[in-house]
Amino acid sequence: MKNLKILFTLVFGSFIFVGCGGNSQSKYPIKIGLSMDTLRAARWAVDRDVFTAKCNEQGVGVLVQSAESNDALQNSQAENLLTQGIKCMVVIPHNAKSSATIVESAHKMGVPVLSYDRLILDSDVDAYVSFDNVKVGELQASTLVKLKPKGNYVLMGGAPTDYNAILLRKGQRNILDPLVKKGDIKIVGDQWSNDWLAVNALKNMENILTRTNNKVDAVVDSYDGTAGGSIQALAEQKLDGKVLVAGQDAELAACQRILAGTQTMTVYKPVKFLAAKAAEIAVKLAKGEPLEKGVTTNNGKKDVPSYFLDPIPVDKDNLVTTVIADGFQKMEEVYKDVPKDKWPQVKK
Ligand code: GAL
Repeated sequence: MKNLKILFTLVFGSFIFVGCGGNSQSKYPIKIGLSMDTLRAARWAVDRDVFTAKCNEQGVGVLVQSAESNDALQNSQAENLLTQGIKCMVVIPHNAKSSATIVESAHKMGVPVLSYDRLILDSDVDAYVSFDNVKVGELQASTLVKLKPKGNYVLMGGAPTDYNAILLRKGQRNILDPLVKKGDIKIVGDQWSNDWLAVNALKNMENILTRTNNKVDAVVDSYDGTAGGSIQALAEQKLDGKVLVAGQDAELAACQRILAGTQTMTVYKPVKFLAAKAAEIAVKLAKGEPLEKGVTTNNGKKDVPSYFLDPIPVDKDNLVTTVIADGFQKMEEVYKDVPKDKWPQVKK
């Protein structure tokens, strides 16, 4: 049944692709494949569009497939891209480990692979571009710790299949562990949210609140989507706005919650710079040109040439000067519940 579903999505997905995006990309002599985990989180469509535009500017086409968080489907979509003569494969893996198969298949055909935003583990992947995910975790925890240096903390992690979730947790622990040792902070909940889904964070948070008798002071959510789930559980107990909550991605709903006071902070990662950097590297790989020397990250098998961008912590004080000034979110959407004459000025 599962195989049938995959086959259907693959055939149907390819049909849609050839029917629309495919045609506009077919005019380019060199093509890159973009294999995406999902388009569910708001940012991924931006990643796809900026990446495609930046490659197109360099005369290179991009063929896109998205796997709806299904490992087997992502692998078979990648095989499908490889049959279309791509010169470089860019992967946003759903599963850090099983996507190593994609690297093997690509290399068998002489196609280099770029790990986009998330690292592919235990593989011979050619390059990796991302934000510094340990730093993101540190920013999340340190913002909350500054506001609440003592208390009961919950760690609401992301998808355990995504290596970013592990790196974020590492960063959060870098900040929290010394305070736990000192006895100032107690970790009263430590969870992961499969596929980064809000509904999983909601369930986990409900259980933690029941178990601790609502004795929670702060929730270090790794991502805005799961922060939404945690905050819903807090709201059921009338604790929203009273408990500190961190997040990541500067999603519209998170920015609105920051304004409303139910989410404390988010981490803004200007995706346009990531996508542009990835396009620059992918085009070089596709043309067989050398990459600039950077740092490396060990992925269990090799030291992967890596390129990192800086994340920006955002709270109500700098929301306008960062996320909104940058055009990542629109003032009229973030401030939709605030009368226009009360909107802050954005300096151009
Ligand atoms: C992570 C990514 C985050 C967030 C999350 C859910 O891998 O680093 O920025 O988008 O996936 O999509």
